[in-house]
Amino acid sequence: MKLGILTGGGDCPGLNAVIRAVVKTAANHGIETIGFKDGFRGVVQNDIVHLTPESVVGILIKGGTILGSTNRDNPFNFRVEREGAVTYEDCSHQALAHIEALQLDGLIVIGGDGTLSCARDFMERGVKVIGIPKTIDNDLEATDLTFGFMTAVDTATEAIEKLHTTAESHHRVMILEVMGRYAGWIALYSGIAGGADGILIPEIPFDLRDVAAKILERNALGRNFSIIVVAEGARPIDGERVIQRVIEDSPDPVRLGGVGYLLAEHLTALTHMDTRVTILGHLQRGGAPNSFDRILATRYGVAAVNLARTGRFGTMVSLQGNGIGHVTLDEALHHLGTIPIEHDMIHTARSLGISLGETQRYQS
Ligand code: F6P
Repeated sequence: MKLGILTGGGDCPGLNAVIRAVVKTAANHGIETIGFKDGFRGVVQNDIVHLTPESVVGILIKGGTILGSTNRDNPFNFRVEREGAVTYEDCSHQALAHIEALQLDGLIVIGGDGTLSCARDFMERGVKVIGIPKTIDNDLEATDLTFGFMTAVDTATEAIEKLHTTAESHHRVMILEVMGRYAGWIALYSGIAGGADGILIPEIPFDLRDVAAKILERNALGRNFSIIVVAEGARPIDGERVIQRVIEDSPDPVRLGGVGYLLAEHLTALTHMDTRVTILGHLQRGGAPNSFDRILATRYGVAAVNLARTGRFGTMVSLQGNGIGHVTLDEALHHLGTIPIEHDMIHTARSLGISLGETQRYQS
């Protein structure tokens, strides 16, 4: 048997741990593994690397991906340069020809919604695909957790801790903007772990008066500094998400960023407090995976090879409670894993008196 593997979309800590687990498990069953470089670009251009247990030595603890990744190259709408001009063409037939020539029995695709959608399109053209969910945003409903998320939460939590000490010294409001386009998991988890006073998430459009009231309430108690964590996808009740730029050839072209500055401007006016903003950005995607993500990524890699060995293609591995299961790719796609409003972490935040920017703050 021979398997292909690729990593697509934005990277996250733990990709190398998955690759290592796939290669080692496959080798233990006499299966060969071929890596494609830079996601589906490598399939279109037949840019491959033969992966052996020797080639994955030492990568468990490394961030990034040894295969490279891209969140642009969609084979069905592939960027081609002809005589200096850029056009977009369907190059999927080239990709299919390469998969056939390599005599692959299956293709393991590690990616988020965009990359897995491409994988499904190839599946419809006869490629035997197995998906592995990846994103620091943790926004895929079909799995309880994606690897990379917990490491991003650690990074954000450490940032909150550091902002705490300087906020206290200068009696300031510190705003930390974290990633999370549609789902506020990183903001909610790190905000609770780091002891934030306000947590603003895309799932709850925020009322600035509630956040300001929390800051002023703390001041009245002599705690004259506050920490607010905001997800990049959060928006005010009467406004829109803050778009930083648009990348036309990306499957999800909108890039968010800057809601922290909007927040700072209004909170300064409402509280008269000195306010500073930190945008954590891609620090959340970099660095070594924590032990939780190394383990989850490894379990996913092993499970994906076992699905291939037993012929269960068209599926994606997923964490279901404490066990690793699988769902069909169709079930996995286009179902965003946003935070349910009745989630116990929301209740936890409310119970602690953290402002979620709700018009009415609950104190249950
Ligand atoms: O999907 C993961 C993510 O990290 C988002 O939270 C963020 O908005 C986006 O990727 C950033 O993408 P890029 O690396 O293209 O700037």
